[in-house]
Amino acid sequence: MKQAFSFSGPPRLNGEIFVPGDKSITHRAVMFGAFAGGTSCIETSCLGRDNLATIRIMRQLGVQIGGELSASMHALACEEGLAGFKKTTESLCRLLIHGAGVDSLGKPDGVLDCGNSGTTARLIAGVLAGRSFSAELTGDDSLRRRPFLRITEPLSLMGASFSGDRLPFAVSGGELRGIEYRSVRASAQVKSAVILAGLQAAGQTVLIEPRKSRDHTELMLQAMGAALVVEDAPEGSSRVTVSPCDHVLAPLEAKIPGDFSAAAFFLVAGSIYPGSRVLIRDVGFNPTRTGLFAVLQRMGAAMKVHNQRVSGGEVVVDLEVQSAPLRGVDISADDVVLAIDEIPILAVACAFADGVSHISGAEELRVKESDRLAMIAALLRDFGVVVEELSDGLIINGSAGLRQRFAQHAPAQDAPAQSEPSWRLSGDHRIAMCGAVVEGLCRKGFVLEDAKAVETSFPEFVKCFETLGA
Ligand code: S3P
Repeated sequence: MKQAFSFSGPPRLNGEIFVPGDKSITHRAVMFGAFAGGTSCIETSCLGRDNLATIRIMRQLGVQIGGELSASMHALACEEGLAGFKKTTESLCRLLIHGAGVDSLGKPDGVLDCGNSGTTARLIAGVLAGRSFSAELTGDDSLRRRPFLRITEPLSLMGASFSGDRLPFAVSGGELRGIEYRSVRASAQVKSAVILAGLQAAGQTVLIEPRKSRDHTELMLQAMGAALVVEDAPEGSSRVTVSPCDHVLAPLEAKIPGDFSAAAFFLVAGSIYPGSRVLIRDVGFNPTRTGLFAVLQRMGAAMKVHNQRVSGGEVVVDLEVQSAPLRGVDISADDVVLAIDEIPILAVACAFADGVSHISGAEELRVKESDRLAMIAALLRDFGVVVEELSDGLIINGSAGLRQRFAQHAPAQDAPAQSEPSWRLSGDHRIAMCGAVVEGLCRKGFVLEDAKAVETSFPEFVKCFETLGA
């Protein structure tokens, strides 16, 4: 499935947009809503295929999930095999999750297919670890290649057993014991899996990570009444102590903020497309997520934060960006943890910035939906950027004049077709959107060869370009 967009004049972005509801928070709201005693109501502007996979799996575990979906989301849900939602003429979706406590989850009939979603698979493994049945988890080709030892190890130490450490595998849960676990990587997926198992274990569970990763799990569970203590620990590390949950959690009533990781594409595009001004409304601005904002500020981007407020325990803002000349920057492991999903689009910003940029401490990007260091290097090289690939990062020779240089040296339109470059076929939503941002600027338009992949997180990505590029 292809989608395309072209500018009628020079590539410029102007106007206001909303981005989809935060993918990480939505996964958690759907799962944790099921553990509450009562009905949770979640409002969101948009749900991607990853979130729909979480809904499907929770239903397979016996949770009743209904509500109303906007017409486009209703169509996407039907494609994902999710029936039973009402179609509304409103643009907002409203999910109703009828929770009856974690003990109400039942053995599923079939295999639990997480699709492309690592968060669904790793978090649900933490839930299943404490259930007294076994269930089989699988995912698409990309997810089957990704590592799971990072969660099977701590969950096995707690007493669960796994038939393997790559998908597909069976999880056999049961009586868990609390452990103290020191994770070698800052990962919200690992942390959340251990916390979810810890809630079901006998005794306290302690999870220490070397840097603090996104904390949506902690914020949401605390708001629902779970006993979780989060503390700063030596040398920038972070420690979460979880007590067994012996009471029913309170249902959620939340409006999901816009996804900062989706807004990131327009913060960068608004900075590098000349003459642009973009306002992105209602964006989540949790400090464990906003590394891209800090890095873009160091690069000289012209951004403003408006209307800061707190909603459902999460910081929410409106973000404004205007085009500005950018300079090269050093991005280190401290930035990477706060911008783990934004490194590819930051690499795009670096390519259009004057000077050399150095990204390090980003080895985790090699085991995301694709090898994102290799894919982003291939993409940028395709547009004439000199990039050196390191085991844990990239060195990018940026140039504010990249667009003009590309226009002068671009292959002629009627040149014999080259084989499709690897990045176009990566199936990775974030790489596809990075490609669109670069292509839109250099070629005055783009073709998404795999628009289905983009629907993983941002089904209305092209629509946002249509709104801003009109
Ligand atoms: C996520 C955590 C991050 C991130 C992913 C979403 C989450 O992964 O890359 O897209 O919702 O917990 P890691 O925890 O593996 O870094």
